[in-house]
Amino acid sequence: MPILGLGTWQVYAGAGDLSLSPSLWSLSLQICRDAVKFAIDVGYCHFDCAYLHQNESETGDAVREKTKERVVRREDLFIVSKLNKVHKSATSSRQEDVPYRELSLCLHCVFPCLGCSVVVRLAEQLPSFVLPLRLWSTFRERSLVKEACQKTLAALQMDYLDLYLMHWPMGFKAGEELFPADGNGMTIPSSTDFLATWEAMEELVDAGMVKAIGVSNFNCNQIDQLLSKPGLRHKPANNQIENHPYLPQEELIKFCQSKSISVTAYCPLGVPNWPWSKPKDISLFDDPQIKEIALKCDKTPAQVLIHLQIQRNVSVIPKSVAPHHTEENFKVFDFELAEEEIGTLLAFKKQYHIYTLSECKNHKDYPFLGE
Ligand SMILES: NC(=O)c1ccc[n+]([C@@H]2O[C@H](COP(=O)([O-])OP(=O)(O)OC[C@H]3O[C@@H](n4cnc5c(N)ncnc54)[C@H](OP(=O)(O)O)[C@@H]3O)[C@@H](O)[C@H]2O)c1
Repeated sequence: MPILGLGTWQVYAGAGDLSLSPSLWSLSLQICRDAVKFAIDVGYCHFDCAYLHQNESETGDAVREKTKERVVRREDLFIVSKLNKVHKSATSSRQEDVPYRELSLCLHCVFPCLGCSVVVRLAEQLPSFVLPLRLWSTFRERSLVKEACQKTLAALQMDYLDLYLMHWPMGFKAGEELFPADGNGMTIPSSTDFLATWEAMEELVDAGMVKAIGVSNFNCNQIDQLLSKPGLRHKPANNQIENHPYLPQEELIKFCQSKSISVTAYCPLGVPNWPWSKPKDISLFDDPQIKEIALKCDKTPAQVLIHLQIQRNVSVIPKSVAPHHTEENFKVFDFELAEEEIGTLLAFKKQYHIYTLSECKNHKDYPFLGE
């Protein structure tokens, strides 16, 4: 698996029929396509997608264009996607699948020039079934897994994925509601557990639809449960987790690597443009120790944060739609961090999750309770 990839979340695209300005949507579609095409030109060959990102078909368009131009071959690329949510039926429309919060975030990030009020105004135009601040609804019944993967393959216009991940260990109640919540706004669990979903994912490997399967946001105990599942036919190849110096996850990484499960770090930069950041929230780029190490290495803080993961043998998928950032993030193979610098970067002793999914904290499979 290529150690460096391009994240594609926050690049909203693909909701052409949402009741928003068509020019805004077509611009966002173009931004996504351009970002992936530019990244291929720079040399990226690993792309982290998800049905949730709502831009798989634009990613697929970009790949197709570049393969047609003979810049790259499909077999030289490593395409990852995730089984996560919605997938209630192949006929569900994309607009129903877009939670308000993601959409407003995506708009904010794609169009950082738009003030918050504009983002909110745009989001207010969304159809009423888009529930405010209710992020996820996982329809992960066994019978729907194949259909979900087929949908992703169709959007990407590909015959196979290199890696397909179970996005979260929690399953939510199946049905029409995207985010089945109880009266307190907490998610209602599914009767399907992740072991049953895993069996359905194993069938995707057998059918040649995916080369490998893995997980995301799983803790040590959950991985252990998966590995000890009677009749396990395909081991998880990868665990994709939030990782940066304020959430170093040393024990989990060590555990995964000891079981030959590779690890991928998401949010490696700490999502510097997080729209809901409050003054108390993290800013890795402003951390004096990170800045000092960057200065010493003659690199930017972003390059240091990316290289940190590479030096730990962890794949890393920073997202960018800005060409200068995409290029900068790729120039990370010409320096080394000294042992004491790595020690400093891993010794902040913070446990700062950007993605907490607190609406799910009562779920039996919520992964962050023991921390
Ligand atoms: N498995 C999961 O549950 C999960 C959860 C979250 C994310 N992910 C994946 O991980 C990827 C990365 O995480 P993320 O996008 O949340 O966070 P991230 O990569 O830590 O941060 C992305 C932000 O950093 C900015 N940026 C990128 N390079 C920069 C640079 N060199 N200097 C300054 N700013 C820079 C980007 O802005 P510009 O675009 O303007 O450069 C963007 O706003 C996602 O895109 C997604 O594919 C997976």
